[in-house]
Amino acid sequence: MMMITKLSHFNSAWKLAAGTIVALLVSVQIKDAPVGFVDTNGSSSDSSGQCLDLDSNQDMDSLVANARQIFITMPAKAGGTSMKDFTKLCMKRAVHGNILSREGLWKDYLVDSLHVQSIIASHLYREADFLRLVNSPSRETLMIHIHREESSRVASAVKHVSVKICEFRGKYSSHQKQTVAVATKFNVRKNNTHCILDEESFVNEIAANSAEVGISTHCLLTCQSYKAIQENAPQLVFLHYKQVDKLQKLLAKHHCPELLAELPIRANMAEDKSLKVLLHKKGTDEARNSVDLEEWLHAKGPSMEWTLKLRRDASCQAKTFHMEDELFACPDETLRVTSASIDRW
Ligand SMILES: *[C@@H]1O[C@H](CO)[C@@H](O)[C@H](O)[C@H]1NC(C)=O
Ligand SMILES: *[C@@H]1O[C@H](CO)[C@@H](O)[C@H](O)[C@H]1NC(C)=O
Repeated sequence: MMMITKLSHFNSAWKLAAGTIVALLVSVQIKDAPVGFVDTNGSSSDSSGQCLDLDSNQDMDSLVANARQIFITMPAKAGGTSMKDFTKLCMKRAVHGNILSREGLWKDYLVDSLHVQSIIASHLYREADFLRLVNSPSRETLMIHIHREESSRVASAVKHVSVKICEFRGKYSSHQKQTVAVATKFNVRKNNTHCILDEESFVNEIAANSAEVGISTHCLLTCQSYKAIQENAPQLVFLHYKQVDKLQKLLAKHHCPELLAELPIRANMAEDKSLKVLLHKKGTDEARNSVDLEEWLHAKGPSMEWTLKLRRDASCQAKTFHMEDELFACPDETLRVTSASIDRW
């Protein structure tokens, strides 16, 4: 009798030990998983990031399905124009291009029609524009913020601004009686394929954070913004700008299935390539001393950001870098952002 009891004690002690070993193995495995790894159930644990899958019937799909209002926001040069064109077609109604940055338009928007748009896509210009959305969370609202790494974004913005100057568009528009002033300021010389600008005036324009250059990542993702996300817990997703085609598919599935055959909607991509922009140093030989802006950016991009102090308003950039590490490690480069993720960053 004694013997049997002892044996069964031994037996259960052994089982307990074996159980502990299994549990240890499991927890080691979870810790070793790469950041942003999603387990087979499609959900992710806190220690491994909050990657979202953009395929049909996965986690992002259900976030979109459950939201009554979806805000899609972005800095300049991060797929925004494509998303705005898509939204216009999907909602069959146009609202002002950057409505989320233009407070003066909101009341008119609200009283304009009983059916307010369920999807609104807008560039955000300033920290305050981002904060206003983060500070009014609702369980039925989903914020999808499109992200682009800042150095790549700013290079693209510089190219975009150069073409706008060459074509007298936007801020450099011809119907503002400014053409002569713009042409003189930048000493614009062009034919159908090439446009030459004065290097110094153009550099001054970049340094002034003009137009798309200044509608940047670091003026939206600031310490204040990260803090506000933690305090208000909006339903928030960060998505890399290269994933907008997949995002359009998911949104169309729920809001405009008839558009699925026409996707993806892309805008603003070819236009910057049709014209070659050259920078010319004043007082030197034009043919020999004009450098292709692409080459110029390749050579000077990294030093341009600090010499021109383009990030003078930035804060909490470490958090943004750590966020990018997680975002880019996600298979679909899409990340659920929670208070815990910001603690981790
Ligand atoms: C996956 O889901 C099943 C069923 O809901 C659950 O029993 C299991 O524990 C989950 N596994 C993980 C790793 O979360
Ligand atoms: C346009 O200007 C560029 C740069 O000055 C020049 O190399 C090119 O030959 C010009 N093209 C035409 C068609 O004149």
